Amino acid sequence: MTSKLSRLKSYPFEKLNQLIGQVEPRKNLRNIDFSIGEPKHSPPSFILDQVSSAIQEMSRYPKIGGSDRLRDSIKKWLIKRYKLQIDSLDSDQNIAPVAGTREGLFSLTQAIIGDSNSKDPVVLTQNPTYQIYEGAAEMANAEVFYFSTDKQSQNLPYLKSINDEILQRTKIMYLCSPGNPSGKVIPETVVADAIKLAIDFDFLLVSDECYSEIYMDESKPPPGLLEICNKVGNENYKNCLVFHSLSKRSNLPGFRSGFAAGDAKIIQKYKRYRTYHGCSIPEPIQYASSYAWSDETHCISNRVMYRKKFEEVGKILGKYLTYPKPEASFYLWPKTPINSETFTYELFRQQNVTILPGHFMSSDKDGLISGYDRVRLALVHQYDDCVEGARRIEQFIVDNKFNSKPS
Ligand SMILES: Cc1ncc(COP(=O)(O)O)c(C=O)c1O
Repeated sequence: MTSKLSRLKSYPFEKLNQLIGQVEPRKNLRNIDFSIGEPKHSPPSFILDQVSSAIQEMSRYPKIGGSDRLRDSIKKWLIKRYKLQIDSLDSDQNIAPVAGTREGLFSLTQAIIGDSNSKDPVVLTQNPTYQIYEGAAEMANAEVFYFSTDKQSQNLPYLKSINDEILQRTKIMYLCSPGNPSGKVIPETVVADAIKLAIDFDFLLVSDECYSEIYMDESKPPPGLLEICNKVGNENYKNCLVFHSLSKRSNLPGFRSGFAAGDAKIIQKYKRYRTYHGCSIPEPIQYASSYAWSDETHCISNRVMYRKKFEEVGKILGKYLTYPKPEASFYLWPKTPINSETFTYELFRQQNVTILPGHFMSSDKDGLISGYDRVRLALVHQYDDCVEGARRIEQFIVDNKFNSKPS
């Protein structure tokens, strides 16, 4: 039997390094890196200032469950952002701060599967998607089942593909909306169907919403799982949790500050796990995070910057590449005219632009083939660099005579 650790696939950026690590790009061009989803817009200075104002708190062990102030700011944000019933959330019962959602998603899987006593638990997830859901499931000894592929459902969860035998074994279903890598927002009707399945088959539905505050149409913020729970009458958020993060919302990936919120019973179990797991957010960061959750103006100006970049990059690349209309997140997910690994390799060699082949984020398990003809571009840099990167991709396409736009 293979060990759990050896079952973990190489992380997408390890694979990328294997692909292009030894390649010499053209010397006269500086590198533009669209491969990593690390925001490069400046974090708001008024939030950073709060870290120094609370720096003395470094002398204390931070509370695992988060400060009252932090949980209260999160509660108020959730209620306002998703128009939730005011008394539907209790900051102690329904909210658990986490040290970044990556840690949170991983540890939640260990807590839920570990507590399930199931011999053959299943974790459901999309394909391609954020790799942590899969790795966390592997480490918890759960079987991973993928319920969508690019072609069947344009990277939206294709719930009909799951049969009852799988649903009966399912302990967690992960949704990612807005999605990484596609930027798609899962329609409310699909999320409502997923809530019904979670209740009927008694599993936990988790919606990773860490890109929820980067969206293209200011009048259409992406709906969230808790909001849809309210709409379909699941007022206690039974079997439902969301994850949110300050990493993308407030350009603060170094804060390692996010939260899980939803079903009180699950949050309480999870908090118990976390007392032993022991991962908490330093107090000055908790303090500053409460300011970040309480302010919307910085998110509005952040979105303005993203839209400007998407518009200009779209004008350049839209002539040559097809991709789903970006609804939210900071990713482009175009089809490539040739195999995505060769496209990535040659683009790096010829134009010193780094991107990520789509299948580095997907699984080939059970004969699924996904992402081999797509690449992910994270438009995280400032406007000028994003436009320069797009022009170099255009030049690359023209130089190599990839004339026809793949549909
Ligand atoms: C879909 C998704 N979820 C979660 C995370 C983790 O974010 P963080 O740990 O910074 O909160 C990422 C990071 O890229 C992501 O793409």
